Amino acid sequence: MPATPTLDAASKANGPSRRFSVAPMMDWTTPHFRYLARLLSRRTLLYTEMVTTGALIHGDTERFLRHDPSEYPLALQLGGSDPAELAHCARLAEQFGFDEVNLNVGCPSDRVQNNMIGACLMGHPEKVAEGVAAMIAATDLPVTVKHRIGIDGRESWEELCEFIEKVSAAGCKTFIVHARIAILEGLSPKENRDIPPLKYDWVYRLKQEFPHLEIIINGGIKTFDECHEHLRHTDGVMLGREAYHNPWLLAGVDTEFFGEPAPIASRQEALRAMFPFIQSELDRGVYLTHISRHLMGLFHGMPGGRQFRRHISENAHKPGSGLEVIEAALAKVREPEPATMAEV
Ligand SMILES: Cc1cc2nc3c(=O)[nH]c(=O)nc-3n(C[C@H](O)[C@H](O)[C@H](O)COP(=O)(O)O)c2cc1C
Repeated sequence: MPATPTLDAASKANGPSRRFSVAPMMDWTTPHFRYLARLLSRRTLLYTEMVTTGALIHGDTERFLRHDPSEYPLALQLGGSDPAELAHCARLAEQFGFDEVNLNVGCPSDRVQNNMIGACLMGHPEKVAEGVAAMIAATDLPVTVKHRIGIDGRESWEELCEFIEKVSAAGCKTFIVHARIAILEGLSPKENRDIPPLKYDWVYRLKQEFPHLEIIINGGIKTFDECHEHLRHTDGVMLGREAYHNPWLLAGVDTEFFGEPAPIASRQEALRAMFPFIQSELDRGVYLTHISRHLMGLFHGMPGGRQFRRHISENAHKPGSGLEVIEAALAKVREPEPATMAEV
């Protein structure tokens, strides 16, 4: 399908293009996964896992912000609500070279609710506005908010609009909207990603009612056809689970959404291109399994893909495991790589 006309004019004045992005995902969008993602697409905007302001300020800042320059464009996602802490962390994001700083107002876990982090903040739009204003004052980076369309007890269209009005009045121009509510009482974070129904029409309507804002849609998106449909109504699409479980999808993004050549021709080539990075990580003491678990999806749906994954699962955890495990796993992928992107 040809690239559709871009709707991301707003993003040009507001940092990196957000036409296509990979969602922030705890334990999944680690530096190792992001390195792979960047080999597959130059233009996809990548997000870190959420880091809480407390962890950044009181913990090992360098470790939490660690990334490879090849990962740019890269956004740092923060969890927190204290304006002074958010401002401090936004400054850190700029110092460490990130392209955007994003506030998490969508994560429903109990652990974060107790500290006024994540989706519970949807019930406190003034608090979010205050935090966003403090971040904007502290940095030249674009400050964006990722949120839900509501939470239990605050599910109305009017309440969603009130949230957007207050937070945009504080200076936020970009809203990444997970198109379902979060149910804070009674559903686990995982259930909260599947059970509340998706309401894409609400996100489309936000773009209609707030045309000056950049609205990115997220939730349940799996195919490029679906992305094109969403891009008719919004400024960008964000994919989470599908991008992680089937990362080869990203190899089609630059052509499909930016009219640019694909950066890499095959999965094998992508994996081999990671070898020097993997070796340097192993050399600094990272266990192979911490890296290889993020590579498992690369041969998703390919002949030999299951054997590839099995070999890694059975061997990567063994003491002293190195690149030879990946080499041997690669040998299990039987079919030569197709030269075209037709299968994506
Ligand atoms: C394992 C996992 C971890 C997640 N961690 C975060 C997070 O740290 N911050 C956040 O805003 N959303 C987080 N999410 C939610 C995703 O960013 C995204 O909003 C959600 O998965 C819906 O998109 P999808 O259907 O394309 O996966 C996480 C999702 C998953 C599956």
